[in-house]
Amino acid sequence: MSNSDSRVSLARDFERFKRELPRDFAAHVRDTYRIDLSGRYLGESLPHPIGKGSGQLSLNTGQLETDADAGLAFAVLKTVIAQDGVGSQSMAAWAIHETRMKVERRSGGWTVTWKGRGWDRSFDDYLGLVRAARDLTLAGRLLTVPSVKYHLPRLREPFRLEEYAFTTRALAHAWDASPLLLEKDFSPTLAGDALSDEKRQILRWLEEVPSCIRDHAAVRLAMKLMNARFDDGFQREMIEAASGADALVVFNRLYDPTLGVAYGGPELSDRNLRVLDTYRPLASPTAPYRLCGTGNIQSGRMIVEYARRGCSAVQLHTFFQLPLEAYPATHGSRTQRALHALIFEPRDGLIAVMLEREAAGSLARHGGELHFLDLLPNAYHSR
Ligand SMILES: Cc1cc2nc3c(=O)[nH]c(=O)nc-3n(C[C@H](O)[C@H](O)[C@H](O)COP(=O)(O)O)c2cc1C
Repeated sequence: MSNSDSRVSLARDFERFKRELPRDFAAHVRDTYRIDLSGRYLGESLPHPIGKGSGQLSLNTGQLETDADAGLAFAVLKTVIAQDGVGSQSMAAWAIHETRMKVERRSGGWTVTWKGRGWDRSFDDYLGLVRAARDLTLAGRLLTVPSVKYHLPRLREPFRLEEYAFTTRALAHAWDASPLLLEKDFSPTLAGDALSDEKRQILRWLEEVPSCIRDHAAVRLAMKLMNARFDDGFQREMIEAASGADALVVFNRLYDPTLGVAYGGPELSDRNLRVLDTYRPLASPTAPYRLCGTGNIQSGRMIVEYARRGCSAVQLHTFFQLPLEAYPATHGSRTQRALHALIFEPRDGLIAVMLEREAAGSLARHGGELHFLDLLPNAYHSR
């Protein structure tokens, strides 16, 4: 099919999928458009690059079932606060219940304004969620990844290794398959905490946390880096310091010290893309496909922006939480409606932007197909 015939099909698919998105839409896209949407996260192949970031939308099995039915590529579970064997949590301030959450406009985009807290039920309840999530993953329905906030010490203090040991072992036991995929969250509210006043302290966390976790289970580890309250150069230093992780999620939300809340929207993607623009990995990476983008992704065009800067997958939160009338689809779950817009929107959807780049000569076919992963710069590739 020619590029212009593909555009005609796209307009038709966009309209008809408003009523129902096929679950295996990635196979449909490959057959119809000869476009391979495959992405990668934490060493796993994904049918397409779009996953859900940790938060209030991955707190229970019902949400995960809906995401699996919609054909989401992966979901990161809500962040649990680590504890030791007697249940004490050094990061307990992050485990409190926080109800006020507001979906609103900021700088011309959508953001969720919220103080930002972790899992507020029992650790046993979290293990129950992990077991249900594992069942979905092993059944091939949805890749799921638990997320933890572990103890972070001041410079002269030791890490509370009992929290690392107990929590990591308990999660690995509940997962009951090897390796355990895990995200370590360095959250935006942490960026606003006095703990994060010192650069050296943050760099030490990023350097030492991977081995604190790996000592207790076979883990494939992603670290979700915060936007620290320092300049872009320090953001790049953080990436370098986190070399012990298998993957990096770049970068969690901004922190508004006046309001004491975390926020996203265009300011977040501007900052994230700017930092990634100036970051230069080694020319031939030992570990390709290491970056996962997050922050103000509300269109396929924005997915391409993150991919062009090395992200082989993306994780969204806000776009899965909009008022129903904000999506072009008329039927289906929020996850389905969001995926429909991200993939099939005829101007700014992922297919449209890949076809646009083909027409402009900046994305070439290999074996007759366009590949999402070919959007990544060479230094991020395994090709
Ligand atoms: C209400 C809310 C709760 C969140 N909770 C967590 C969390 O517990 N752990 C975490 O790592 N990220 C958390 N996040 C961050 C999101 O996973 C995501 O990375 C971030 O919001 C940027 O993506 P977005 O602009 O698509 O929302 C949360 C975000 C929101 C809006």
